[in-house]
Amino acid sequence: VPTSHRIVLARRPLVGVSPDLFRMETVEFPPLDLMQVRLRTLYTSLAPFQRQRLSETRSYVKPFAIGEVVAADNICEVIESRHPDFVGGEVVAGRLGWQTHPVADGRQLTKIDQALAPPSAWLSALGSPGLTAYFALLEFGQPKPDDIVVVTSAAGAVGGFAGQLAALAGARAVGIAGGPRKCDHAVRNCGYAAALDYRATNFKEQLASETNGRVAVFLDLVGGEIADAVFEQLGLRAKVILCGRTAAVNSATPERDFANLRYVWVQEADIHSFSAYAHVHRFPEARTRLAAWLKAGRLRTNEEYVHGLANIPQAFCNFINGQFAGRVIIELE
Ligand SMILES: NC(=O)c1ccc[n+]([C@@H]2O[C@H](COP(=O)([O-])OP(=O)(O)OC[C@H]3O[C@@H](n4cnc5c(N)ncnc54)[C@H](OP(=O)(O)O)[C@@H]3O)[C@@H](O)[C@H]2O)c1
Repeated sequence: VPTSHRIVLARRPLVGVSPDLFRMETVEFPPLDLMQVRLRTLYTSLAPFQRQRLSETRSYVKPFAIGEVVAADNICEVIESRHPDFVGGEVVAGRLGWQTHPVADGRQLTKIDQALAPPSAWLSALGSPGLTAYFALLEFGQPKPDDIVVVTSAAGAVGGFAGQLAALAGARAVGIAGGPRKCDHAVRNCGYAAALDYRATNFKEQLASETNGRVAVFLDLVGGEIADAVFEQLGLRAKVILCGRTAAVNSATPERDFANLRYVWVQEADIHSFSAYAHVHRFPEARTRLAAWLKAGRLRTNEEYVHGLANIPQAFCNFINGQFAGRVIIELE
């Protein structure tokens, strides 16, 4: 009997994350209903929204139920179809989760155009991180040549594209990341002119000397004390894009986010609360532009790989603890 392997939430975290929050299950292939498609996962992925959904805190995404398959963006091959638009062998993208053989409604799937970019790039540059950086930075930040653009979690999946897109716009991108290895990666591979380690004792002094109170665009992916430090360096009518709250999401005290809103007000900054989901109708247009930069060698995908479903729980904990740089993709055999 053919079976699918999957990872479900076993219990909710109290403070930190550990692999035993998850459980591996094996289930028989269910029969396919009309308009359904059976898939084989080629790649799945790790993302901060998974951490949010482990907890019951109110957010824009609903918490996972205990026993629910952990949602994730996947790239899959169609192996059986009862949907007229899909045939075996096609490669599709969808939020299908940590499982080897998902069953999906055709409406949940996006066909992948491999002429634009290889399948894995549909999880990185042409997937959620690339599209988020594209719309948040180019649509709302609109950096101009020589503008100072500051991005937090600069060596992460979204931050890795934001720096490159800011550099393509001719701006001076300043990244903030945890530790020298990530700062080095941000400068070397992610388009940042400079990268600052927020754990350094003189971080605030470094930020002041690098930006001089002239930050024109601030793409904030983490919030908390790091965002507070950037607020002190905003220029007049700066654009602040609230895109992620990793520090609060990963904290036992999520209510303690930033305190320095005074500087936002003093500098008449615009705050935009960003959601990539609001731009779904424009994803094709963004993918065309991102793919053109990829093909021209002007954009790097910065993918990090983990192999095998069974290694996901530990990899997820390492991810939350900041051990990866770039988009983390799990390749299933
Ligand atoms: N609004 C939207 O539509 C949208 C879409 C996609 C993503 N997002 C959000 O954007 C943010 C970045 O997403 P991503 O996929 O690119 O993830 P990511 O930045 O790759 O996330 C992992 C990184 O977060 C950093 N981090 C973890 N805990 C932290 C803490 N307490 N303080 C500061 N940094 C911490 C670590 O980097 P360091 O080692 O450098 O600290 C870690 O490597 C997330 O908050 C995500 O929810 C929003």
